[in-house]
Amino acid sequence: MGSQRRLTHLYGWALMIVAVFCQWCQGSCPEKDLGKREEEANVVLTGTVEEIMNMDPVQNTYSCKVRVWRYLKGKTMVNGEVLLDGGNKVMIGGFGDPGICDNQVATGDTRIFFVNLTPEYMWPAHKNELMLNSSLMRITLRNLEEVELCVEGKLTRCGLHITWT
Ligand SMILES: *[C@@H]1O[C@H](CO)[C@@H](O)[C@H](O)[C@H]1NC(C)=O
Repeated sequence: MGSQRRLTHLYGWALMIVAVFCQWCQGSCPEKDLGKREEEANVVLTGTVEEIMNMDPVQNTYSCKVRVWRYLKGKTMVNGEVLLDGGNKVMIGGFGDPGICDNQVATGDTRIFFVNLTPEYMWPAHKNELMLNSSLMRITLRNLEEVELCVEGKLTRCGLHITWT
C-alpha cells in the first residue's frame, strides 16, 4: 500500500517536472512583461482580422485589415486617414516580424493588438497603417482585465507574459 502510494506520488512529480520543463524549453521566445509592452504601445485595441494583404515575399511580413471592437488605449491617436471604411477598421502591419514572438494571424482571428502609428521612415509604403509592436494576445477576461489595469496604471507589476508556442 505505502509503496504503491509513494510510486503514484513519484509519478505525479515526474509528470509535473516534465510538463514544466517542456513549457520552459519550448518558450524560447520570452515576452517582455505586460507593463513594458503597454508602455511601448501607444495604441492597444481589440479587433478581428478581416483581410490579409500586402504580403512581403522577401521579409515574409504582411498587413491586415482589422475591424476594431474597442480601444483599450490611445483611441484619440487613431484618426484621419488611418481609419478605414467609415471609421471602424484600421490597417495593421508588421505581422510576421521575427522580432515579435506571437506574430501570426488568420482571417477571423480576434485578438488584443499592441500597436504604434507607423514611423515616418516606413512611409510611403506603410503610411496610414498601424504597426504591430509586440505579441498578439488572446482575448480572455483575465487578459482584458490585466491590460486594462496596466493602462490605468493600477498594477505596479503588470505580470510576466510568456508565449508558449
Ligand atoms: C515598439 O515601440 C517602441 C517605441 O515605443 C520601439 O522602441 C520598439 O522598437 C517597437 N518594437 C517593435 C518590435 O517594433
